[in-house]
Amino acid sequence: MKVTPVYGGGTDDLGCIVQDLDCNVLTDDDFAQLEKALYTYKVVVVKDQLSLTPEKQLELNRRFDLGAREYGHANDSQRAKASILSKDGVTIPSVPQVQILGEGPLDITLNDHYKGLEGAVLTHPTHGKFHRDHLTPQQLAEGKTRFYRWHIDAALYAKNPPIVTTLLGIRNPNGDMQTVLYDDGTGDELKVTPGATAFVSGSTALDSLPTHLRSLALNSRITYAPHPYTFISPCRAHSTGLIVHSENLETPLEDLPQWSEDDLLTVPLVWTNPITGEKSLMVHGCCVWRLCLKMNEEDEGREVTDLKEVREIIYELMRPGIAPKNVYAHAWEDGDLAIFYNRGVWHSVTGQDFGPRLMHQCNLASPTPIS
Ligand SMILES: [Fe+2]
Repeated sequence: MKVTPVYGGGTDDLGCIVQDLDCNVLTDDDFAQLEKALYTYKVVVVKDQLSLTPEKQLELNRRFDLGAREYGHANDSQRAKASILSKDGVTIPSVPQVQILGEGPLDITLNDHYKGLEGAVLTHPTHGKFHRDHLTPQQLAEGKTRFYRWHIDAALYAKNPPIVTTLLGIRNPNGDMQTVLYDDGTGDELKVTPGATAFVSGSTALDSLPTHLRSLALNSRITYAPHPYTFISPCRAHSTGLIVHSENLETPLEDLPQWSEDDLLTVPLVWTNPITGEKSLMVHGCCVWRLCLKMNEEDEGREVTDLKEVREIIYELMRPGIAPKNVYAHAWEDGDLAIFYNRGVWHSVTGQDFGPRLMHQCNLASPTPIS
């Protein structure tokens, strides 16, 4: 197998391309090299994997996280109609840990695994369904787009975040480049291929902070909302896709599915890779709820429970991370299998109006808590 860095985000440790490998038949030695590449480059794209079966994709995910069994969002409330994720995927009946993503009617003749999914229609998430302020029809016609939602793949409630996500691009859009507008007053923008998946490194995001914010990030903890995707379902996102606006639109806590304080996810803002020791700022800004802020270990800490203030602090911590120079926007080719270290990168969907698309995605709730 051949590993070639792509220097995503201008660094030598974000993104690589792997060639001459068949993930349907991975030897222990192949896997060891793949795992090494994952922890070095955090986004690994294995070319020419169109024949990868859902069963083998699931097996691959489990190999990266021994003991992981169930889908990262395998919780009725996360897939419930009231959740913002409810339209994002269709479950493969025989391998429910693998989701079908994309755009357009699902052609069930393409794959025996699609039996029982007659009539399914895939919907690519677009900013128009989630952001508060929309691009104009003229901007859309010019191929302007947004980061839909910067995130970590995780239920963020009652389950540990997955270590790895695998995303197989089976049919991908092609066509003219599109331009992500940040629309936050900075004038920042980023050219991307249609439907590119954008990644940034959490370690670069941490390194991008001035000293006082870095200290704050290194010592503080976040608590995510109960059933966060249902909690924020009525909310409208910021134009960068980093947070939602504070407009008192959240689902009232008493209207959420049953929840308990014990199942809330409280984790550091900075996660440490147990293999490399690398520290990464890892936050899913749209789903945050409470903060415990500390500048150093001796600091008593300040609890922040006002959602507006929580989001403002989180935005200040996250925004430098998505500067255009830090983003690796993967240009998909049919057969690309992206494997990413979900505890070390953030990612976002981009683009719209590019025609049909088909992907298989898998991530598994981990038995290992965040460290
Ligand atoms: Fe995702």
